[in-house]
Amino acid sequence: MYNKKFVWFMASIAATGGLLFGFDTGVISGAIPYMQSDLNISDSDIEDITTFALIGAMIGALVSGYLSDKFGRKRIILVAAIIFLLGAIGCGSASGVIGLMAARIFLGVGIGVASFSTPLYLAEISPASIRGTLVSMFQLLITVGLLGAFLSDSAIADDTNASCWRNMFYVGVIPAIILLVGMFFLPESPRWLLSKGQEKEALQIMEKIEDHSVIEEEISKMKSDIEQTKEEMTIAETFKQKWMFYPLMLAVLIMFFQQAVGINTVIYYGPSIFQKAGFESGEAALMAQVSVGVVNVIFTIASLFLIDKIGRRKLFFLGMAGMVVTLLMISYGFISLSDDGSNGRYLVVASMLLYIVFFAVSMGPLGWLIITEVFPVKVRGVGSSIGSLANWGFNSLIVWTFYKSINKFTHLFGGDAAYGTAGVFCMFAIIAIIGIVWGYFFLPETKGKKLEDIESHWKKGGSPKTL
Ligand code: BGC
Repeated sequence: MYNKKFVWFMASIAATGGLLFGFDTGVISGAIPYMQSDLNISDSDIEDITTFALIGAMIGALVSGYLSDKFGRKRIILVAAIIFLLGAIGCGSASGVIGLMAARIFLGVGIGVASFSTPLYLAEISPASIRGTLVSMFQLLITVGLLGAFLSDSAIADDTNASCWRNMFYVGVIPAIILLVGMFFLPESPRWLLSKGQEKEALQIMEKIEDHSVIEEEISKMKSDIEQTKEEMTIAETFKQKWMFYPLMLAVLIMFFQQAVGINTVIYYGPSIFQKAGFESGEAALMAQVSVGVVNVIFTIASLFLIDKIGRRKLFFLGMAGMVVTLLMISYGFISLSDDGSNGRYLVVASMLLYIVFFAVSMGPLGWLIITEVFPVKVRGVGSSIGSLANWGFNSLIVWTFYKSINKFTHLFGGDAAYGTAGVFCMFAIIAIIGIVWGYFFLPETKGKKLEDIESHWKKGGSPKTL
């Protein structure tokens, strides 16, 4: 039996990286209404400030593969913790838009690094028998971090004090310190040590973690994996193979649809959307956002049980179809808001909660899972980092254009902002319909399939539908 206490201690410290990812992407949502009145900034500045963290995350995700191979997983997570710490202080103390943008891009680099290194470290330090559970916990931790941010934003929110947004950012210092101090006591990843030829050190750590009867087998498995991924040339060559089209297309497009259904407009801009829907006080809008966070956590837990039972395709269609309906309901809520004003806002909140239910059981975990399943072992690391890069790229694009699109639609509908907002959610619904058609033809059912079999299916020229 593996060393339960030590493994769960390590996992909970390392998992704080996932929590911080969620916390620092979500914290902006509660801060926005107060930041806007305190610093008198426009919707378009808000888009920039929100998006800059995502661009930072792209940079972080891009460099962290290389850096964590060169310097080790532990050191890179320590650096991420320092960035989280300084970034939180920087955001909280920024004096204006430029300062906020700079602090957010810096904080974003930490988010990007954590989004790549934490699951990698978790996978590499966990005993084989619980690896799947620990890694899929990562999505859950993101949602717990988001909820933590909404709760703390809501506790700090004070309609009589416009500068309360600063404290919302400062709270991020606490988990950053936990990660920083905790990581000091954790060992380096044995797999990384092996890849650097430090077999003795790797063995010592494995002895602390793993069931002694499987250590030898695990080490030789790691060694053969490392051998396979070492040959740089063949990685480049592998990407040139015609059969790599499907895995690459799947990784990029699953992330496109995960983001293009508009999830993060609700996650980051939720309170301001609720305000636009008629919940005037920032505190009330934040209460509504806390319920978004709670529903997200509960249904992400549900999806952990469902994903291996009912399979990827069914969950995909269920989730996407549910999102089409609920996005149209949100749209209708805004239209009726404009027509009679009173009840539309409840329809907006209720349908947004339902929309989160359908996202959390399907596209939330599916996106991150598919990118780890479809690539052949030789390029699995590079392949999944292409997937996470695509995730941050599409995320930035949607979040950066949200208010701009509302303005465009508002113009189109003769200046009525409620109709403008309805138009944007309707557009997300149309994208979800296109996603269903795409999924019907291209999404493979990977449930219960061995990764080796998926790999040989592509090599034989198979298509996703015939997998
Ligand atoms: C997405 C994030 C999103 C989160 C919400 C993740 O799967 O990649 O962009 O904020 O789910 O729970």
